[in-house]
Amino acid sequence: MSPETADLTQTLAADNLQCAIPTDPAAIVIFGASGDLVKRKLIPALYDLATHACLAPRYAILGFARSPMTDDSFRSATGDAIRRISEVGPVDPARWSDFARCLAYFQGEYHDPQAYQKLVARLAELDRERGLGGNRLFYLSTPPELYGPVIEQLGRAGLSRPANDKSWVRIIIEKPFGRDLASAKNLNSVVLRSFDESQVYRIDHYLGKDTVQNLLVFRFGNSIFEPLWNRNYINHVQITAAETLGVERRASYYETAGAIRDMIQNHVLQLVSMVAMEAPAIFDATAVRNEKLKVLQSIRPYGPEAISKLVVRGQYGAGTIAGAAVPAYRQEPSVKPDSRTETFVAAKLAIDNWRWAGVPFYIRSGKRLNRRVSEIAIRFHRAPHVMFRGRNISPNWMVVNIQPDEGISLSFEAKLPGPEMKIRTVTMDFTYKEAFGPGSRSAYATLLNDCMRGDATLFDRADSVEAAWTLVDPILQAWQNSPVSFPNYPAGSWGPQEAMDLLVRDGQAWRFS
Ligand code: NDP
Ligand code: BG6
Repeated sequence: MSPETADLTQTLAADNLQCAIPTDPAAIVIFGASGDLVKRKLIPALYDLATHACLAPRYAILGFARSPMTDDSFRSATGDAIRRISEVGPVDPARWSDFARCLAYFQGEYHDPQAYQKLVARLAELDRERGLGGNRLFYLSTPPELYGPVIEQLGRAGLSRPANDKSWVRIIIEKPFGRDLASAKNLNSVVLRSFDESQVYRIDHYLGKDTVQNLLVFRFGNSIFEPLWNRNYINHVQITAAETLGVERRASYYETAGAIRDMIQNHVLQLVSMVAMEAPAIFDATAVRNEKLKVLQSIRPYGPEAISKLVVRGQYGAGTIAGAAVPAYRQEPSVKPDSRTETFVAAKLAIDNWRWAGVPFYIRSGKRLNRRVSEIAIRFHRAPHVMFRGRNISPNWMVVNIQPDEGISLSFEAKLPGPEMKIRTVTMDFTYKEAFGPGSRSAYATLLNDCMRGDATLFDRADSVEAAWTLVDPILQAWQNSPVSFPNYPAGSWGPQEAMDLLVRDGQAWRFS
């Protein structure tokens, strides 16, 4: 790295998390405030925003839950958690104490109308004390069955509408948004009875990852890639979201979800949309989300025969990860010993439009796989004629590394130095760390910041959530009625053999297998 580049990288690392303009003053009310997500992700994200001048100097964070806590015990519970488990780095005691002064707790029952009347009064008090201008952000971080009841209560208490024409009210709804098409439609109608779509932010944290947003810049901020981004040059696309972790402490949720609801319906289909969408005319919420929706609507629906051939499910058995023995899914705490929940899904998708006709998209996601990697890999066609007789020429790969080694890599063929024509594959790499230094922001911080600025570009819209469920629903139904032989992959592997066969049948192979 040249001294000039090193200087620039240092400056970027120091500056790139600061916000030029803070958000409006606001009260942020988090439902489910005693929960795991709040401690691990939301409070650290808000602390990060506050310490980088991204939140207005006047704000309040009010945790709502049933557990008995005072303002002080809520502050110390979140303070302990941020020091123990957060990714925001060392916590500065002075900054934490400034931040903690803005934290407060509200004990209430989620279904109780009186609790919401008291909440109205508490918010009015915070508005007066702290000059919040009546702006409110509600964050639903409860188990999903409570989203509907909380939204209805907010509507009844008059909290879903802005108090005056200068203030705003927004709501962030955690995933999963529904558990099938019917429940997603039902939840959309509950939401839209109390809120206008423009107030609603359905969160998918994958869209807040810098590398996922960078797909838009990579594709539409450069002129050299887009001409190649179609069936004439691309042979197929592979999308992998692989975890080494198992179900951890979330079995009660995961047992009712499985990998298709937990990862495919949302995160993985978001990635498919970002790779496959047409260029929006402008970078705004309507234009970007319109184009993403068209991709979901172009994915060929699965019939029963296609499901049995093109969609693979799996569940991990006991195995070894990074040298340590780990138990089978069925032996995890709170998992049924005969559980039929899938911890792995792979599928082959067809996108029926002019750009992608005939280009397979292979997707997969699973827990307890061989290593943690999320990536989008684009395989280009083989060179049409190879003049170097007897030499093995590999087609090019373009790989977008979403995590953990964030960046983009292009592989191509190069001549080895020396008198003979020897050819080897080399890569040209861009990594976030080298180019921009170590500073990065969590996806939750990015999305909270966007929502507070009123930018819904990276949030899901009612129509696209339903389009994703339309695709997934027939698979859920087919699986419900068909036998399954689990476990069918050992922890630490790359999933069941059938997932490998999906590509082998087409003369291809997963990049990792
Ligand atoms: P938790 O299970 O920790 O629940 C959050 C809080 O909801 C609890 O602390 C509890 O607070 C309250 N609650 C109300 N009724 C129940 C109930 N029947 N069982 C358990 N808790 C209840 O959830 P998470 O924090 O893990 O997740 C919150 C939301 O975010 C969920 O919808 C989840 O799907 C989603 N999500 C979570 C992720 C994670 O990593 N944790 C990742 C992505 C999405 P109290 O009893 O005090 O009212
Ligand atoms: C969450 C899923 O949405 O995403 C989890 O509920 C999964 O099961 C997680 O582990 C993966 O996110 P990331 O950012 O670690 O890839």
